[in-house]
Amino acid sequence: MAGDVLAYLSPSGTTRAVARALSSDLGACASRTLEWDEHDLLRDSPTQEVEVSADVVALFAVPVFAGRVPAPAMDALRRFRSDGAAAVAVVVYGNRAYDDALIELADVLAEQGFHVVAAAAFVAQHSIFPAVAHGRPDEADLAAVEAFAHAAAPLAGLVDGTPMAKGTAEVPGGRPYQDPKAVPLSPVASSGCISCGACASICPVGAIPMDEPWKTDADACIACTACIAVCPKGVRGFAGLPYKAAAVGFAKLNSGRKEPETFLATE
Ligand SMILES: Cc1cc2nc3c(=O)[nH]c(=O)nc-3n(C[C@H](O)[C@H](O)[C@H](O)COP(=O)(O)O)c2cc1C
Repeated sequence: MAGDVLAYLSPSGTTRAVARALSSDLGACASRTLEWDEHDLLRDSPTQEVEVSADVVALFAVPVFAGRVPAPAMDALRRFRSDGAAAVAVVVYGNRAYDDALIELADVLAEQGFHVVAAAAFVAQHSIFPAVAHGRPDEADLAAVEAFAHAAAPLAGLVDGTPMAKGTAEVPGGRPYQDPKAVPLSPVASSGCISCGACASICPVGAIPMDEPWKTDADACIACTACIAVCPKGVRGFAGLPYKAAAVGFAKLNSGRKEPETFLATE
């Protein structure tokens, strides 16, 4: 049996936190030892096809960008293939909505030959407007992750005597998926930039020149926030009046707490 798959895209780290918590909770429920092959799709995206054996479990987690799966994650997900491995599909969103992201993730995993037995949408701090869902995932979210693992493990055939669920998890969302909207914001560096290039190295769309990393190509930038999270000096961020005004308006509309939602195969 090859390794179990834990794959996530997580520019600001919350999706990784949820995915790792879930992988460890699944491990605690399983009757065999889960051996996770971790794929960080931002830092170490596979360049070749990854064949996933049908007798392992695969956990895929992505953040929601404008109601969709981020484009760099879709490219990476299409490199994983299986002939029926049980998959758990997770999206993490910033307390606005996940729109068509979960159905898009479930669809691409099915196209790649996975059997999606469980799916979930968890909430985390908004990476562009961090006042929204600030500090999440919190204790209650992590308890929901644990409860989800307990429900998903038998469906994935991880508990002695339980065969993998025959059906697949049905998730909300529409097809065709809503149009991907570009976020008209891009991070800038303030005067403390030391030109280390960490931001340029991690940028998934090549929007930051290595020799002038304080500049950002606003047309190429997808506002994913990876460069903000990686900056060792903490000098990258969103700034300016339009951003500040958008932050106030966004927080007003999206401050009511949203709760995790989970979807399980029924057969
Ligand atoms: C470009 C962009 C678009 C986003 N779009 C949405 C959205 O449509 N709905 C939502 O609730 N949160 C949205 N968010 C917030 C993220 O989904 C959320 O903060 C997530 O936890 C980020 O994951 P990460 O920490 O793994 O990067 C968006 C964030 C970014 C950077």
